[in-house]
Amino acid sequence: MFQWKKLLAVGALALATAVGFAGCGGDNAASSSSSGAKTLKVGASVDFAPFEFQDEGQSEYQGFDMDLIRAIGKEMGYDVEIQNIGFDGLIPALQAKNVDVLITGMTINDERKQTVDFSDPYYQSGLTIVVRENEQNIKSFKDLEGKKIAVQIGTTSAKETKVIPGAEVKELNTPADCFMELKAGGVDAVVNDRPVNDYYIHTNQQTGVKVLPDRLTSEDYGIAVAKGNTELLTKINDALKKLKDNGEYDKIFAKWFGEQKQQ
Ligand code: ARG
Repeated sequence: MFQWKKLLAVGALALATAVGFAGCGGDNAASSSSSGAKTLKVGASVDFAPFEFQDEGQSEYQGFDMDLIRAIGKEMGYDVEIQNIGFDGLIPALQAKNVDVLITGMTINDERKQTVDFSDPYYQSGLTIVVRENEQNIKSFKDLEGKKIAVQIGTTSAKETKVIPGAEVKELNTPADCFMELKAGGVDAVVNDRPVNDYYIHTNQQTGVKVLPDRLTSEDYGIAVAKGNTELLTKINDALKKLKDNGEYDKIFAKWFGEQKQQ
């Protein structure tokens, strides 16, 4: 008799789990997992160290954004489930409700505000240029006129470089593709976000390329939710504020950027 009860209990648990997973397909962060917690479905283009990346042999996505959204989810009482989606597919995935939020080093700008709502800013960034080490002619953004430039597709770098007179802009899938193209001599420069360029050159210790000090823009990163999803946005902003107040944000910041202050 005891055995039967046990079997029944296991069966019930399996059923609950199955129902829990099925619930993940539901809309706006309302799905509950087997633990009873809600699941926050997160989209990120996992190609942007130190914000979102995957190291060889490591199954978990890592980086500043990944730690921050896990901390935010925890604060909200949600399980966090991260999906890797190409950068140009992220806003469509949000609109199709395949994910609830995007955290992906995404710059808050007016164009995107037409289609998504952004959280309070969580990181101050900007664009810099990477060139080959022996480059003599490109010293700043004004020298990019008439040059070949690689950028990640759909990014602010793409937008900013397209207006440079005479420049030929190649939009590639990832920043890594851009750097490869630069090293192979297919382009003269890469324009990309400052902290990502710095990490690539200094932490990954790439040789044959250098980053220039000139900065084109000042940009703020925000977490995006579907337009009009104010309920979720409020929860995210509240959690972000709490993490800033209780020192957790600073800890995550120091883990990825050392003691350097936001600049
Ligand atoms: N900050 C830039 C933008 O919003 C680039 C972001 C790229 N992010 C990524 N995970 N690849 O357009």
